[in-house]
Amino acid sequence: MSEEKQVVTMDKIISLCRRRGFIFQSSEIYGGLNGAYDYGPLGVDLKNNIRDFWWKEMTQMHDNIVGLDASILMHPRVWEASGHVSNFSDPMVDCKVCKSRFRADQIDLNAPCPVCGNKDSFTEPRNFNLMFETHIGANKDSASVVYLRPETAQGIYVDFKNVLQSSRVKIPFGIAQVGKSFRNEITTKNFIFRSCEFEQMEMQFFCKPGTEDEWFPYWREQRMNFYKKMGIHPEHLRWHQHGPDELAFYAKDAYDIQFLFPMGWQELEGVHSRTNYDLTQHEKFSGKDLTYLDPETNERYIPYVVETSAGLTRNVLMALSDAYDEEATPEGDTRTVLHFHPQIAPVKVAVLPLVKKDGIAEYASKLEHSLREDFVTFYDQSGAVGRRYRRMDEIGTPYCITVDYQTLEDHTVTVRFRDSMQQERVAVDQIVPFIKNAMKNYKRV
Ligand code: GAP
Repeated sequence: MSEEKQVVTMDKIISLCRRRGFIFQSSEIYGGLNGAYDYGPLGVDLKNNIRDFWWKEMTQMHDNIVGLDASILMHPRVWEASGHVSNFSDPMVDCKVCKSRFRADQIDLNAPCPVCGNKDSFTEPRNFNLMFETHIGANKDSASVVYLRPETAQGIYVDFKNVLQSSRVKIPFGIAQVGKSFRNEITTKNFIFRSCEFEQMEMQFFCKPGTEDEWFPYWREQRMNFYKKMGIHPEHLRWHQHGPDELAFYAKDAYDIQFLFPMGWQELEGVHSRTNYDLTQHEKFSGKDLTYLDPETNERYIPYVVETSAGLTRNVLMALSDAYDEEATPEGDTRTVLHFHPQIAPVKVAVLPLVKKDGIAEYASKLEHSLREDFVTFYDQSGAVGRRYRRMDEIGTPYCITVDYQTLEDHTVTVRFRDSMQQERVAVDQIVPFIKNAMKNYKRV
């Protein structure tokens, strides 16, 4: 699909998410809270499926990556060592007339205020730290300050030695983690793209100094392939290499995978060659030895790190945007369809009785129950079957099974494929392997 052919707008995504229970605004009945979202019944399954797809890809499919689930609250010195206390900030300006707040690097400071239209109304840019600060314990003094982590990566660095000493990993190896991160973002428009509370899927790959230039292209390729494996249109993905003005001072090289979101090309994931900066900082600030002793050469060194850092919630927006389509049907109307890869689709199989009478509904309900062990299923007996197909298309259910009069005679059902809308007659006792096979061999058109 070309850039021009994308039919989806952010408004359509937001409306579908709300209507079908993927994503709601947080605290909506109180007027909502900016930058925070709730994942509804379908959204939570979509998000968990993407997380599981990533986790399997990064841990199960590699022999040298282990998992971690570090806490959100960490010792405040962690964020001094990492540089977040002094450097993790955005330049911010306020409009003195309407009090709107903007990121100074995202607007033209010589133009009128984009909200109220007044000229020369901006304050001088000030740096605004993005970390949420809170207090642990009963005393609210400077000694009790803790931060909600703004990235999951630091938990991995801080546990590097624990993992090394307690598992059988040897360099090169990686530690993978999925979890919540928090940033007090100034600009939170564009739905879940940039929120104050979000989830990240990060992996830090520890390697011998001097080998990072081999691992860096390896991980770039792995990460791009992951999205293609998830069925994302390759034309909607591209690389962006950080220029000298974007690169962190300690980073050797950095690339972003960008996706063509409804509002244009934006970062989806970062792949960074981070040198030994973080471990060196934590060694300095904690006073603990974070070196690695190579068992073969007896060399001692602080490993270099290649990081892959993806937003899970941003992946959800990508999956919805890439899957969304409005298609003309042979009957002359339009269907809204989400072409999710079956692995990430919230519902895999819907079972629909053609009619409710003559024992057909009972047969279909029993079949649906028997499939629950293998698939997330949905049973729907209300309305015309064509409308039921449309409802399933709209939430991205890849397979619909219809039970009809012939089923009662020969125990076969029709399987209807979401993407092609074609149907195939399958024996009921072959349904599980048939669908598993279809899922495994799924190809996005
Ligand atoms: N450890 C490196 C790191 O955190 P980052 O580029 O700041 O790097 C990595 O963030 C990814 O996390 C981004 O590519 C994006 O997908 C996601 N992300 C960052 N800030 C976000 C926000 N406010 N809301 C949603 N996702 C965010």
